[in-house]
Amino acid sequence: MTTDFGVDTDSLRVPDDIARIIMTADNWDRVDDVIYPAGTWLRQNMPVGRGHVDGYDPVWIISKHSHIREILKDLETYHSGDENFMLVTQEGDTYLRNMMGGRVTSPIDNLTPMDPPDHAGHRAAQADAFTVEAIRKYEDTFRELAKNSVENFIGTGGSCDAIANLTHHYPLRVIMQMMDVPESDFPLLERLTQETFGGDDPDIVAESGAEAVSPETAARLWQEAVDSFYDYFDEMVQDRLANPRADVATAIVQGRLPNGELMTPKRQNHMLSSLAIAGHDTVNAALAGGILGLARHPEQLALVKSDPSLIPGLVDESLRYGTPTKHFMRSATRDVDFHGVKFAKGDRIMVLLFSGNMDEDVFSDPESFDITRRPNPHLSFGFGRHICMGMHITKIEMRILFEELLPRINTLELDGAFRRKRGNFVTSIKTLPVRFTTP
Ligand code: HEM
Repeated sequence: MTTDFGVDTDSLRVPDDIARIIMTADNWDRVDDVIYPAGTWLRQNMPVGRGHVDGYDPVWIISKHSHIREILKDLETYHSGDENFMLVTQEGDTYLRNMMGGRVTSPIDNLTPMDPPDHAGHRAAQADAFTVEAIRKYEDTFRELAKNSVENFIGTGGSCDAIANLTHHYPLRVIMQMMDVPESDFPLLERLTQETFGGDDPDIVAESGAEAVSPETAARLWQEAVDSFYDYFDEMVQDRLANPRADVATAIVQGRLPNGELMTPKRQNHMLSSLAIAGHDTVNAALAGGILGLARHPEQLALVKSDPSLIPGLVDESLRYGTPTKHFMRSATRDVDFHGVKFAKGDRIMVLLFSGNMDEDVFSDPESFDITRRPNPHLSFGFGRHICMGMHITKIEMRILFEELLPRINTLELDGAFRRKRGNFVTSIKTLPVRFTTP
């Protein structure tokens, strides 16, 4: 028996070295020379394959753009919340299950692990806060924040770390302003977002005061950060229920389900805290992808400087090139024949968003940074009914930052080696030394 893509169904085990590269957190600081080649091997040789790594649940690894879309759009067959929606070690999952005494996703009650029938109504209850029209009213605020970040960057005098001086602080400030969070609380929330996604990165673990990187440390750090978010946002929920104001937090807390009722208090809280978590490191990673792309491809910088109507293309290409969220997990709700591969009910499925974004059947010369790609159907925001709620916020805030930055620089180049964060879920560049000249 062979699959639709010509692989013998008895030999669908992903080679162990490739499975280890893709599934563990260890190699994500080496995207160009380790991760991308592994993704290319999978797309070319085993677009659907079973990965086995000691200490992890076995998973089906899906690497082609079309297959990823097929899975993400079928919410009935592929659930997000029956198992963890990110791939962590079995030890990490066990830690979370024991802590809440239930499903591994019990600590998180936002949209991400929600499946039909709950998902649609809860998404609709908040949707008005995320439309392009709703976000346009924040454009002036975004521009003020972008000007500050760009001023800070230019003020370094021509050479600096673009993450620390340009891309890192801006997205959190954007989301905090939209939620009307007092400025004195920014440092706390900033630290928590780092710890939420940083449990696999040695530097972040060290800063948190924990001993060493281990599955237990990663799970514990994550749980502590998420718990602190919940405590912080409890107060905000109560406040916005009692004193509604014109911010996103009020729109979410006061959102009505199709039956006219408010969401449960736990869900109100988790929907709010998910914005701070979802809207910080992801946007930082996309902006960093854009800065890296422009620094590596000076002709693209010259092109967009001469024609600012290409900035939306630069935004999309930065999202593709930076792919902030490397994977998402689903699990099969029934036995499925997927292009000749038999998924059993309960099997876990890892969709590689980064690999879909590098699929040569969809993107010509995928490793090059090309702001003129039309269309640019990248999968950075996912696909289907779980597609990122914050995508318009992201695109608008990125566009504004580039609009403010581009007229202020003439050239931009890498100034030494850059470093990426470890971790297989949301990861970004952590230091990006650049040199630039100004007009
Ligand atoms: C570059 C920036 C961002 C990236 C790459 C990104 C990525 C994603 C992805 C891949 C998903 C789909 C998850 C799935 O299929 O299960 C998602 C969902 C979501 N994102 Fe984003 N995100 C970004 C920014 C934001 C921002 C700024 C916000 C809010 C302020 C946000 C809020 C959400 C929410 C609420 C969901 C859940 C939607 C649902 O499950 O129905 N995201 N995001």
